[in-house]
Amino acid sequence: MAKIQLEHVEKYFGDVHVVKDLNLAIEDGSFTVLVGPSGCGKTTTLRLIAGLETITSGRIVIGDRDVTALEPKDRNVAMVFQNYALYPHMTVADNIAFGLMARKTPQDEIERRVHRAASMLDIESLLKRKPKQLSGGQQQRVAIGRAIVRNPNVFLFDEPLSNLDAKLRVEMRTELLKLHRELEATVVYVTHDQEEAMTMGDRIVIMDGGVIQQVGTPREIYFHPRHRFVAGFIGSPAMNMIEGRLEDGEFISSHFRIPLDGPAFEGDVILGIRPEDIYLPGSLPAERETPVLTAKVEVIELLGARAIVPLLVNDLSMRAVIDERHLEQVQEGGSMSIVFDRNRLHLFDAANGERIE
Ligand SMILES: Nc1ncnc2c1ncn2[C@@H]1O[C@H](COP(=O)(O)OP(=O)(O)OP(=O)(O)O)[C@@H](O)[C@H]1O
Ligand SMILES: [Mg+2]
Repeated sequence: MAKIQLEHVEKYFGDVHVVKDLNLAIEDGSFTVLVGPSGCGKTTTLRLIAGLETITSGRIVIGDRDVTALEPKDRNVAMVFQNYALYPHMTVADNIAFGLMARKTPQDEIERRVHRAASMLDIESLLKRKPKQLSGGQQQRVAIGRAIVRNPNVFLFDEPLSNLDAKLRVEMRTELLKLHRELEATVVYVTHDQEEAMTMGDRIVIMDGGVIQQVGTPREIYFHPRHRFVAGFIGSPAMNMIEGRLEDGEFISSHFRIPLDGPAFEGDVILGIRPEDIYLPGSLPAERETPVLTAKVEVIELLGARAIVPLLVNDLSMRAVIDERHLEQVQEGGSMSIVFDRNRLHLFDAANGERIE
């Protein structure tokens, strides 16, 4: 186990600035998820920690060691890649043992570690097979097994589940979390899937354009996004964002007005409201409901227990998520009354996207 510190880390590829003054302290034994849109610098950041890329400037510390100038093999870090990178001509057992053989580990020690990893991953019966005789999920386990046998201080996972089908992905999430607990290792896990980030991370780091936008627990990130980008990126269906201005204790948009006492801010803002924080009037304690708005109901998407209800409030498109039990009050093509939960409104400065308290 080891903590990881990134201090003022910069990375340029030629003159492309990919990672920008990254500062991050990853706690010993934590499961930290790096999440952000494609191209935001997640893989590059992992590769910098692993030593597979050299940093342009800054410092990386793993445990108590400054590893900035160390080779990957001297960092005691194991990385699991999205494409597994298994050797097709070698058996599962040899694939798992490969790194140990390269280090001239004694044969009986190799066998002991391979069997321990295979048993943790439940792939003991597959050890004699070749990778092409395995399913995607099994290949992924082999790739993880190869990381485990090295007893690293730090595991780096780069989108390890993205090649698996939806059901297997959910199963493997649970498996990986169990494994994390068993191994008591520090894990840095990259994904662009915000649901994976929310369910797996004990801390989430949201990146955009090579910059960290927010670091927090899943709850902090979801209920208290510090930036408009974070608010829009996390949550599905996405948060509704309404442009307007704050003036004399009122949010004023071209679509509707809501009295809002609290924020001292005056000027252009974006009001954010998550689809599940929109209700039929009378569902919440009165003091939490905003004034009633009338909305036109478009085509309802039933998910099962809940439904996504696209709405038009004047000419503003919004989405609400409504409990299936209340759907009888909602008709496609008809109109419905809605309120927002005051405790769940988010306000962002339109000029820089930052949260307004
Ligand atoms: N070797 C390289 N040379 C030049 N540019 C690179 C190189 N590797 C990555 N980049 C660029 O750096 C940026 C960040 O890439 P990176 O692979 O870290 O993104 P990512 O967040 O992992 O994205 P994805 O979700 O698509 O995997 C991208 O704009 C990419 O084009
Ligand atoms: Mg990537």
